[in-house]
Amino acid sequence: MKIAVLGTGVVGQVVAEKLAELGHEVTIGTRNVNNVLAVKGPDRFGRASFSDWFKDHPKVKLATFAEAAQTGELIVNATNGMASLSALELAGADNMKDKILLDISNPLDFSKGMPPTLSVCNTDSLGEQIQRTYPHTKVVKSLNTLNAYVQVNPAIVPGDHTIFISGNDANAKSKVRSLLNSFGWKNDNILDLGDITTSRGVEQLSPLWVRLLGVFQSGNFNIHVVKAK
Ligand SMILES: NC(=O)c1ccc[n+]([C@@H]2O[C@H](COP(=O)([O-])OP(=O)(O)OC[C@H]3O[C@@H](n4cnc5c(N)ncnc54)[C@H](OP(=O)(O)O)[C@@H]3O)[C@@H](O)[C@H]2O)c1
Repeated sequence: MKIAVLGTGVVGQVVAEKLAELGHEVTIGTRNVNNVLAVKGPDRFGRASFSDWFKDHPKVKLATFAEAAQTGELIVNATNGMASLSALELAGADNMKDKILLDISNPLDFSKGMPPTLSVCNTDSLGEQIQRTYPHTKVVKSLNTLNAYVQVNPAIVPGDHTIFISGNDANAKSKVRSLLNSFGWKNDNILDLGDITTSRGVEQLSPLWVRLLGVFQSGNFNIHVVKAK
């Protein structure tokens, strides 16, 4: 399948790499191709720059948000949550019309330092804002409760653990479920929370995730939801 991954950060890179490994035709989207390739040296976490990563992944294409979204049959939103609405505006409503948008973003606001706050919560969520802004796009929220490496390789965390899925369109959720299966997620561990308003709950897990990162000093963990029989 042709997949557009909007976002050049760690999530965009890791998800694009996995999708390409699985045989999908992947285009990463960015605001400005020349600008993102011009950034050299390690990022603030000591990871290789996007341009170095891109050189090592010749199967992945790079384009503007709009060009990537236009080519993608399915679109992944892996842009900064504070800027996702701007990034999607650049991607263009027409280029996303009638397509599935797998939304991995979290509306984390780091502007006042650590710990971050949520820029939208309680009575709304970024997933809902995106769905409201693009009513002809089928928004499915998932994977946002995990670090990028666990998202595409659940076996990093031993045993059973839970991935959530939210969205209004049953068929779109079913397609995203298949994609999650191809990443290694077992159906029993995929918990469908319901419509897109359930994005509120999973986005509000991100402040907990940040605190757990502080405890474990590693992002390789997850939550397992267990229901009494
Ligand atoms: N890091 C994780 O492990 C993790 C886990 C779960 C969920 N998430 C969520 O996944 C998303 C991506 O996270 P990340 O750490 O990979 O990357 P990030 O640094 O949060 O976002 C990078 C992307 O956001 C775009 N962007 C930044 N400011 C923009 C603006 N003003 N207008 C338009 N686009 C803008 C960048 O565009 P350019 O390419 O043009 O620079 C880039 O493509 C976030 O929403 C994050 O909360 C992250």
